[in-house]
Amino acid sequence: MTIRPRRSVLFVPGSNARALEKARGLMADCLIFDLEDAVTPEAKDGARAAVEEALEAGGYEGREIIVRINAAGSQWFADDLAMAARAAPHAILAPKVRGAEDIQLLADRMAGADTGPVALWAMMETPQAVLNARAIAQAARQTPLSVLVMGTNDLALETGARAGENRAFFIPWLMTCVAAAKAQGLEIIDGVYNDFSDAEGFAAECRQGRMMGMSGKSLIHPAQIAAANAAFSPSREEIARAERIIAAFDDPANAGKGVTGVDGRMVERLHLEMARRTLALAAAIGAREKG
Ligand code: COA
Ligand code: MG
Repeated sequence: MTIRPRRSVLFVPGSNARALEKARGLMADCLIFDLEDAVTPEAKDGARAAVEEALEAGGYEGREIIVRINAAGSQWFADDLAMAARAAPHAILAPKVRGAEDIQLLADRMAGADTGPVALWAMMETPQAVLNARAIAQAARQTPLSVLVMGTNDLALETGARAGENRAFFIPWLMTCVAAAKAQGLEIIDGVYNDFSDAEGFAAECRQGRMMGMSGKSLIHPAQIAAANAAFSPSREEIARAERIIAAFDDPANAGKGVTGVDGRMVERLHLEMARRTLALAAAIGAREKG
C-alpha cells in the first residue's frame, strides 16, 4: 500500500519571491505554487517566470510539488500549461472547475502540451462543481485526476453563503465532495483557514476536516504547517489500536472470522483494512520526517 501524506498543502504565491525562497525550508507535505488567485493580472507573467526559475533551481525535495495554473478560458492558460510541461511538477491544480467536461478538456490539453506523467488536481470552488461533484470525480477513470481541493473562499464568494459556526452551512457541500472523491478512490483536501493568527480556531477546523475524511488541509501561511501535520497524522493511540486490530485478525484463533472483539469493541474485516491504511500512512509520515 503506497500512501503519500498530504496533511499540509501550502499555497505559495508565485509573485512573492520571499515566499518562494522561504518555501525551500518549509516542511509542508505539499507545496502549491500559485499563478492564479494569489497573483494579480499585471504580475502573471513575472510569477510564471519566477516559479519556473525556482523549480529549476530546486531545493523543494521531499515535498509534492503542484502548480496551480489559471483557468482554461483565461489568456494565461496556454503559457501556464507550457511552463508546467517544462517544470514537470508532480501535479497541476486546475481552478474553477465546473463539470466533468472541464476535466476532460484539461487532460486533453495536458496531453497536447506533453506534460508527461503529471497528475491533475481540481479545485472544488464553484456551486457547479459541488452539484457536479460525482461526474467530476468520475472523470478520474479516463484522466490523471487524483485529488480534489476544496476552495471554500470562492464558494462563499460565488454563493453568498457564509460558513457559519463550525462551518454549518458548508458541511453539506464539503461532505458531498468527500463522497464524490471517495467513490472514485480520490483524495480530498480541505479548504483554507484565513485567520492565520488564530491557532486555536485553525486546530479545531483541522480536527473537523479530519473527521470529514479529508486527507489534509490547504494552507496559506507557514504558521499553519505544524498544526496541520499534527492534526492529520494518526495519533499514537490510533497506531497502537491499528496494531491490535491487525494482531487480532492474525491470531489463528480468529482465522476465517469476519468479526471479532478488540478492546471491548466490535471490529470487522473492514476495520482491518482501515488499520492497514493507518499503519501505511504512519510509516509514510515516519519516512518523510526522517528525511
Ligand atoms: N508561503 C511561503 N512563505 C510565506 C507564505 C506562504 N504562503 N506566507 C508567508 N510567508 C513568509 C513570509 O514571506 C515571511 O517570510 P520572512 O519571515 O522570511 O520575511 C514569513 O512567512 C512570515 O510571514 P508574515 O509576515 O506573517 O505574513 P505576510 O504578511 O508576509 O503574508 C499573507 C500574509 C496572507 C499575504 C501570505 O501568508 C500569503 O500570501 N499567503 C498565501 C495566499 C494565497 O496563496 N492565496 C491563494 C490561495 S487561497
Ligand atoms: Mg479560488
